[in-house]
Amino acid sequence: MANTPEAIISAKNISVTFPFKGKDITAVRNVSVDIYRGEIFGIVGTSGAGKSTLLRSINLLQRPTEGQIEINGEDITMSKGESLRKLRNNIGMIFQQFSLIHTKNVYQNVAFAMKAAGKSKRETEQRVPEVLELVGLSDRALSYPSKLSGGEKQRVGIARALANNPYILLCDEPTSALDLENTNAILKLLKEINERLGITTVIISHEMNVIKKICHRVAVMFAGKIIESDNVFNVFTAPQQEFTKSLVSHTFDLDVPERLLQNKDVRTLKVIYSGEKAEEAVLSDTIRSFGIQLNILQGKIEYIADRPFGILIIQLDGQPDKVQNAENYLKERTYQVEAIHG
Ligand SMILES: Nc1ncnc2c1ncn2[C@@H]1O[C@H](COP(=O)(O)OP(=O)(O)OP(=O)(O)O)[C@@H](O)[C@H]1O
Ligand SMILES: [Mg+2]
Repeated sequence: MANTPEAIISAKNISVTFPFKGKDITAVRNVSVDIYRGEIFGIVGTSGAGKSTLLRSINLLQRPTEGQIEINGEDITMSKGESLRKLRNNIGMIFQQFSLIHTKNVYQNVAFAMKAAGKSKRETEQRVPEVLELVGLSDRALSYPSKLSGGEKQRVGIARALANNPYILLCDEPTSALDLENTNAILKLLKEINERLGITTVIISHEMNVIKKICHRVAVMFAGKIIESDNVFNVFTAPQQEFTKSLVSHTFDLDVPERLLQNKDVRTLKVIYSGEKAEEAVLSDTIRSFGIQLNILQGKIEYIADRPFGILIIQLDGQPDKVQNAENYLKERTYQVEAIHG
């Protein structure tokens, strides 16, 4: 079929069980997911959901108890020794706590990853300055980790992960130890790297805001399972599962004072529309066409995967049949309309 995205990573019925105090803990339960070549794929979920365990099974840092991992269509689940080492050179990884070697400077930290991969001295001397430039750290090559900010440490982590020219980058909570400013800078860098090098990126986060900023598609994990997976825009605008709905609603910060929602004589709606200017005409048309009153309680425009998306909380007041017709009209003209109850 034309235009079918190609899966570069394919997890098939993955389960991971750990023996723990005489019992088994199942961290990942029968998860199947395809990650497409060149995309940024997010995995979101609360602590303990099994995100890291799933991510680590992609490069076999964690061997699945059941199921298969395919990379480029090849089943790698049983790979060992030299073939596993080669595979890992193609899959870079970065971590929440950076995992740098404190006794080595920035240059040496990156060079070490190349040495471990069996690269020659000449290759290393050429490549390390290239990746340091890519992450904006050319002038810090001789600094030691203790002298770097959190954001800079993660840049070293990224440079090290890219040193061996991988085509997959796995990121386990890459910004969770960073402040907001550094978080945004690192996300921007990961996005640039994805666009510039076309590197397939898998990023775990417990924060929907991270996912919203850079991912193309996202899987939501809950208690070891993927409960929902779609492109980021759909998951944000029309989450299917209750857990996803609560994750998403936290990010929008659309609280309306409770007393406003208590007014049972009016219809309170959350209206979602796509596009920056679309709403004004729709609202004035609604007022004009149906002879009702319309109050805006809250409104904002969000950007999800670079796509503008507006959210309005409105109240409709008037004769019940007119209000109902107005609501139907809004449903036709906007992306989504949902009733809100106090
Ligand atoms: N090596 C291990 N031995 C025993 N249990 C483990 C091991 N690794 C993970 N677990 C358990 O598996 C479950 C999933 O852990 P995992 O680290 O994958 O979750 P997570 O979604 O990454 O959480 P967090 O957001 O806290 O990092 C947890 O209950 C955890 O305690
Ligand atoms: Mg984790």
